[in-house]
Amino acid sequence: MAEQANPIKQGKSEVIRAARLSVAPMMDWTDRHCRYLHRRLSRHTLLYTEMVTAPALVRGGATHLLAFNAEEHPVALQLGGSDPVELAEAARLGAAAGYDEINLNVGCPSDRVQSGTFGAVLMKDPGLVAECCAAMIEASPVEVTVKCRIGVDDQDPDAVLPEFLARVSAAGVQRFAIHARKAWLQGLSPKQNRDVPPLDYALPLRMKGLFPALHLSVNGGIGSLDEAEAFLDQGFDGVMIGRSAYHSPAEILTQADRRIFGSGPDSDPVQVARQMMPYAADHIASGGKLAQVTRHMLGLFSGRPGARIWRRVLSEQAHLPGAGPELIEQALCAVLDAQAA
Ligand SMILES: Cc1cc2nc3c(=O)[nH]c(=O)nc-3n(C[C@H](O)[C@H](O)[C@H](O)COP(=O)(O)O)c2cc1C
Repeated sequence: MAEQANPIKQGKSEVIRAARLSVAPMMDWTDRHCRYLHRRLSRHTLLYTEMVTAPALVRGGATHLLAFNAEEHPVALQLGGSDPVELAEAARLGAAAGYDEINLNVGCPSDRVQSGTFGAVLMKDPGLVAECCAAMIEASPVEVTVKCRIGVDDQDPDAVLPEFLARVSAAGVQRFAIHARKAWLQGLSPKQNRDVPPLDYALPLRMKGLFPALHLSVNGGIGSLDEAEAFLDQGFDGVMIGRSAYHSPAEILTQADRRIFGSGPDSDPVQVARQMMPYAADHIASGGKLAQVTRHMLGLFSGRPGARIWRRVLSEQAHLPGAGPELIEQALCAVLDAQAA
């Protein structure tokens, strides 16, 4: 059975330990309902929010974007921005809201993000990233980390990445998640930028040799816990998984506590589905919709008997007027029938 999650803020060493495995920040995907589900599946894995822009928080006053459930700990807030003063204020707000870590996005290539001069384009300006991070560190009592690429456009990653890590770590950042491919800022959609530029895991690994004191997580294209364990064995301090963790949360997260953290039993997707029922009921009682919760649960049985019927029941019925948490039990019955067949 999934153990109780962590309803208290985590200390720095606990967060660093949690960073052995993390679920990547993903816009529209890793919202608080998704993170609550992931936390039921793994007690220790570090979870990241979707990117929240510093201007939205500081100029737009959108502090509701910081809301999260206390059981999500350890949880990191990802910020986007490029103005040191604004990012410092956003980091202060995030830490005050109770996040365990503040992460700066230097990896996201979407048009919207480029237009605000933040995200992956900042790989071209490590001095500005260093300035932003120094300001954030000054303002934040919790650790400030960076998620980056190995380079952008026609940059030479072998030259750019060590220079980037040297300058940003000199500003005080000790932990990085490196998406091990370039971003091409012209001509590729954000989605293509997650698949088309080739992966180069060897370069971030060489960075571990150059900067042994830094905590480096590798990200990009990692699809199983076997692969995650292999990367840790090679010398990475952490592994960050995005799409596979979202689409197949049970595959990645049910065994994570035992295999990656050496602590705790495996979680059971059936029990986790049932634990989501009171959560969904609370969400509906406060004016939300069932589908806002269940859309993140569609992959819960992926790769297992019953996966298709589970997905079908939830995707066809959760958005109907009046749909309630009992739909989850109904879908589970169909899964259990399929498993017994
Ligand atoms: C739907 C989606 C949204 C994403 N949003 C963000 C984001 O807000 N911030 C960020 O740093 N990366 C974002 N990413 C990139 C992921 O964090 C990750 O770096 C990328 O998907 C590669 O990892 P993967 O191959 O394990 O998915 C997003 C990826 C996806 C699929």
